[in-house]
Amino acid sequence: YGTSRVNGQGHLEIGGVDTVDLAAKYGTPLYVYDVALIRQRARAFKETFEQLGVHFQVAYASKAFSTIAMLQLAKEEGLSLDVVSGGELYTALAAEFPVDKIHFHGNNKSKEELEFALAANIGCIVVDNFYELDMLENLCKEKNQVMQILLRVTPGIEAHTHDYILTGQEDSKFGFDLQNGQAEAALKRALQSEYLHLLGLHCHIGSQIFETTGFILAAQKIVEKLSKWNKELEFSPSVLNLGGGFGVRYTHEDEPLSPAKYVEEIVKEVKVQAAKYELPMPEIWIEPGRSLVGEAGTTLYSIGSSKEVPNVRKYLAVNGGMSDNIRPALYDAKYEAVLANRPLAEIEETVSIAGKCCESGDMLIWDLPLPKSNDQDLLAVFCTGAYGYSMANNYNRIPRPPVVFVENGEAILVVKRETYEDLLRNDLRLSVGIGQEN
Ligand code: LLP
Repeated sequence: YGTSRVNGQGHLEIGGVDTVDLAAKYGTPLYVYDVALIRQRARAFKETFEQLGVHFQVAYASKAFSTIAMLQLAKEEGLSLDVVSGGELYTALAAEFPVDKIHFHGNNKSKEELEFALAANIGCIVVDNFYELDMLENLCKEKNQVMQILLRVTPGIEAHTHDYILTGQEDSKFGFDLQNGQAEAALKRALQSEYLHLLGLHCHIGSQIFETTGFILAAQKIVEKLSKWNKELEFSPSVLNLGGGFGVRYTHEDEPLSPAKYVEEIVKEVKVQAAKYELPMPEIWIEPGRSLVGEAGTTLYSIGSSKEVPNVRKYLAVNGGMSDNIRPALYDAKYEAVLANRPLAEIEETVSIAGKCCESGDMLIWDLPLPKSNDQDLLAVFCTGAYGYSMANNYNRIPRPPVVFVENGEAILVVKRETYEDLLRNDLRLSVGIGQEN
């Protein structure tokens, strides 16, 4: 991946930095991000749009990995930002992200979150449902403020991916149904409002998608409706946001397309559809999360105990697990790994990598070919940059690992390791007995 290679010491190196040195300096588990690879991905998406001569925004879906440093990097690369909660918005503001390029998503934004977004005067709110449409309009009226919005629609497309992350199909908690009149009703409401400025539509059909068929079908369905609304309601959208979901390579079996290919095919189709219905070409917005940061992340673990189940398997445990990467337990996600201190050593056995959490399901990788290893070895698990740190948790009161960015031979710490004290920060003592405030 990216700048990963084996260096002169025979160690895994990322961003010109020896991972064995990183583990010695920062400890393990440790999330390491290849900054050059993130930049390369961001530029690939943007440059393709530029070459195709369309107006666009590439919004980083910060749920994949939201920290101040990451959002500073996204800002440096000229990306826009998708946030889905007050906490993500707060992080964006802390990173001094340009507010006009922040888009706020979510199927149940609270009144406080909407007020926060209005006070920050962010670029747009992606309205998900009628409840939110009412609440937002009332808040805007109260504050005498106009807010730009997109309406999130579900076009009824099923992306072939894991069931838990299907969002574009009709039976979904997200968005206004495009087929049954919901989207049209929402559109009429938005168009009537003095306080809501409707920019266009949004859809997100799923995650870790390997082909462009789903995006193309979604674009077709949406543009067809837009042409109807153009004729009947004289609505001409300035923005069509087709969401994120572009796939990455977790293992050698995954074959995602390049960022350029996804963008080319999507833009081509929207151009064809717009021409077919004689609609002006809208701005195309996309929201990649995983494909910007997934492959750029590697987690370094120390190897600890092992257990043989005779004639069945060998378990090899690392000093992290579902607390820093819940994806294998939650989605049956697959990963590949090498020994960071000797990635080229001969493969001698097949082991299954266990986490340290008190749960049998806490397995990171089943049946991984490895050299015979011991507690002097470091395991590097690849492609952990998306939804690893962001879904990390304190199960078993395990502190969250730190994050380092590496680039051009330098490493910088961007998230500190949690301490035991951090774990107790919100705990209050029962010093005066139950029922009495302390
Ligand atoms: N836009 C919207 C509206 C989304 O719901 C999502 C992801 C994205 C963009 C970014 O999708 P990406 O490009 O990262 O695939 N925790 C799961 C993924 C959940 C994705 C939810 N929405 C995982 O670890 O696979």
